[in-house]
Amino acid sequence: MPVLTNTKNIGLRGVPVADTRISDVDGANGVLIYRGYRIEQLAESSTFEETAYLLLHDALPTEEQLSAFRMRLVAARRVPEFFFEALKRLPAKTHPMDALQASIPLLAAADPDLDNESREANIAKAERLISRVAVVVAAWHRIRNNREPIPSDDLLSHAANFLWQLTGEQPDAEVARFLDVALVLHADHSFNASTFACREIASTKAHMYAGVAGGVGALSGSLHGGANVQVINMLTELQDEQDIAGWVRRELESGRKIMGMGHAVYKTADPRARFLKDMCFRLGEKLGQNHWCALSARVEEAAVAEFTARGKTTIRPNVDFFSAPVYHLMGIPHDLMTPLFAVSRVAGWTAHIIEEKFGDAQGKPALYRPSSDYTGSYCGKTGCVYKPIEERKG
Ligand SMILES: CC(C)(COP(=O)(O)OP(=O)(O)OC[C@H]1O[C@@H](n2cnc3c(N)ncnc32)[C@H](O)[C@@H]1OP(=O)(O)O)[C@@H](O)C(=O)NCCC(=O)NCCS
Repeated sequence: MPVLTNTKNIGLRGVPVADTRISDVDGANGVLIYRGYRIEQLAESSTFEETAYLLLHDALPTEEQLSAFRMRLVAARRVPEFFFEALKRLPAKTHPMDALQASIPLLAAADPDLDNESREANIAKAERLISRVAVVVAAWHRIRNNREPIPSDDLLSHAANFLWQLTGEQPDAEVARFLDVALVLHADHSFNASTFACREIASTKAHMYAGVAGGVGALSGSLHGGANVQVINMLTELQDEQDIAGWVRRELESGRKIMGMGHAVYKTADPRARFLKDMCFRLGEKLGQNHWCALSARVEEAAVAEFTARGKTTIRPNVDFFSAPVYHLMGIPHDLMTPLFAVSRVAGWTAHIIEEKFGDAQGKPALYRPSSDYTGSYCGKTGCVYKPIEERKG
């Protein structure tokens, strides 16, 4: 077995750890594909439901398959009453990502297929999770504000129903379609940190809910799904700033990062960001609030110019840079932006968990178990002398 001593502490950048048939990111050329289809094509022509089906089944559905899939997602929107009772016991200040993470084992308890590890049962679990993560995020927002969760409107799409269950108002069809497209854009992204966490957990043969709970935890960090909240905070802070270029320069000089910029894999424009930027302006136009997108574009321009001047020509906006103003314009509360990422990414997580469990891309499932080099205390073969606690001095 070769020892890759030069791969330590670099976050596994550029180290292939598995094969996958689900999605691919070509970072040099800014291309993202799901199951062979370019993200631009899916964003233009597909829906979240169809994309989720594609991710799970490795093929676009027929009309009949899609309609049956939609009906199963709609049916799964009904969660047992004990679930909401449990959510109501959480302190209202619980962060929505923590509430979501805490909800996943409760959803496991409500799943009739939990102990069935067949492929069919795992697909059924994936469908329930895809449907219910959205229900949880909307329900927790209402519960923390002392309002009752709203039953699903079964005629609405996944995206539109999420807005309905969140606000209790019938969503505008165009706004719902914008959200639908945003969900398509966020649904998968090869071996990103949260997906890797899901797959690593699945490799232990833990059930799908354990994997998804791990994915939610990984997504919550500010270098991953949490970045969209940092972006909206930054834009809010910059609303009255006249000298954006000066602000960017000062941020970089003091060693801070411009949130929503840069990517571990893309070394050119993130194709999702281009879509979201366009969507931001269209949505802003519709709502008569173009200043958020205009401000984002000014920060982008100033940051890219400053990065380029510093020889960092590959740092460009990532998916979070324009999803943040888009969600803000949709009226999504800021701390729900990362949970909304999970509402979409759960489609990719569950597809990856199934691929991992059944060795779909490489024949044989295997437990992840990387090695490490020990650099701590060493007292020879016999080990350090253990002193009883009363003999130890400060
Ligand atoms: C996502 C991210 C972790 C990718 O990191 P990476 O490709 O591994 O790049 P590194 O963090 O190693 O950065 C490479 C260099 O560019 C700089 N850089 C990268 N992104 C930057 C940003 N957004 N602002 C300022 N500097 C940045 C780093 O400081 C580093 O500089 P150095 O070589 O002088 O140390 C990084 O770009 C980042 O922190 N971005 C902001 C958070 C964010 O938007 N996350 C969402 C990702 S989808």
